Amino acid sequence: MAELSTQGGAAPRGLVLGIESSCDETGVALFDPASGRVVAEALHSQIALHAPYGGVVPELASRDHIRYGLRLTDEVLRRAGATAHSVQAIAYTQGPGLAGALLVGAQLAASLAFAWGKPVIAVHHMEGHLLSPLLADPAPKFPFVALLVSGGHTQLMRVDGVGHYELLGDTIDDAAGEAFDKSAKLLGLAYPGGPLLAKLAESGDATAFAIPRPLLHSGDLNFSFAGLKTAVANEVRRLTGTELPARGAVSAPQPVLPDTHPRRADLAASVQAAIVESLVSKSIAALKQTGLRQIVVAGGVGANARLREALTAGAARGGARVFYPPVALCTDNGAMIAHIGALRLAEARCDYAVNARPRWPLTELAAATSAF
Ligand code: KG4
Ligand code: ZN
Repeated sequence: MAELSTQGGAAPRGLVLGIESSCDETGVALFDPASGRVVAEALHSQIALHAPYGGVVPELASRDHIRYGLRLTDEVLRRAGATAHSVQAIAYTQGPGLAGALLVGAQLAASLAFAWGKPVIAVHHMEGHLLSPLLADPAPKFPFVALLVSGGHTQLMRVDGVGHYELLGDTIDDAAGEAFDKSAKLLGLAYPGGPLLAKLAESGDATAFAIPRPLLHSGDLNFSFAGLKTAVANEVRRLTGTELPARGAVSAPQPVLPDTHPRRADLAASVQAAIVESLVSKSIAALKQTGLRQIVVAGGVGANARLREALTAGAARGGARVFYPPVALCTDNGAMIAHIGALRLAEARCDYAVNARPRWPLTELAAATSAF
């Protein structure tokens, strides 16, 4: 993302500092409401830390956020040529996410804000994702449909303004990112599996395996991905010649496809095709149902190239346009939190209680009373 050059100029003023620490990425950014631009940002990914465990270890995540939160804050201030005086408010992710990880960001925001005499703004992580396409050029205009696809969410929303969200459809079980990650694990891929599965799928035949698309013709806008993981598990058992344990027997461990298996790429491509078809079909149905002509894709799975291709083509057939944030904005980052802080500046409070909301439905958010 472009950063404004501040070299040689006076220290900037009126910036919003954003701190993201909900899961396995520490992200910090400075946003300038006057120009509507990200001034500086820094990100530290914990992927290498959690990889040996095959998933995020909450305690390790919290400890790492402690290590990097202040370091990245200093880094963005330095890059922007900014000081504490440049900051008018501090936005942080209050939820949803891992409780311990959220508490680290909330504590950092409260401590800095208290020390600097600035107010804080509690931000909803998914609202950060939802409105991140507004940071791209070209940006969508309200109202639009949003497909929110991350490791924990798969939702279709009607977005009429900041805080005006109507839930159109939701997953009834697993999230799309979870389906990617769980399938990737069965294919013997490392954490986080989504991008690795997508890479493997590039050389595979997407029609090779019949992976189910539950709820595809349900007539509503809901999703279901749990059956997909079971289908992949069964295919892996078949391909590795592992029998299902007999009824009542002690269950055998789930086999994983070895990385030398010749059908691995085909299975990856088939799984990806099933997830993408479900997401695209319901997204197109949401456009039809609302009569809107713009759809934005937000959240980590939005980085998936096949999803982008298929959704762009499907939407174009109905005369609609798809907006994607740049890939770096799709996954967790500080810029999307600083951006929401700027949109919700009127909610800034000198209240330094440290609160995390690990569970927090997006539809509980109030409308913003001001926007920059
Ligand atoms: O939004 P995000 O960074 O974190 C959450 O808030 O959950 O999303 C992470 C999810 C993971 O499930 C990851 O595997 C998935 O996004 N993901 C992808 C791709 N890049 C990230 N899934 C499929 N294809 C990708 N290229
Ligand atoms: Zn996220």
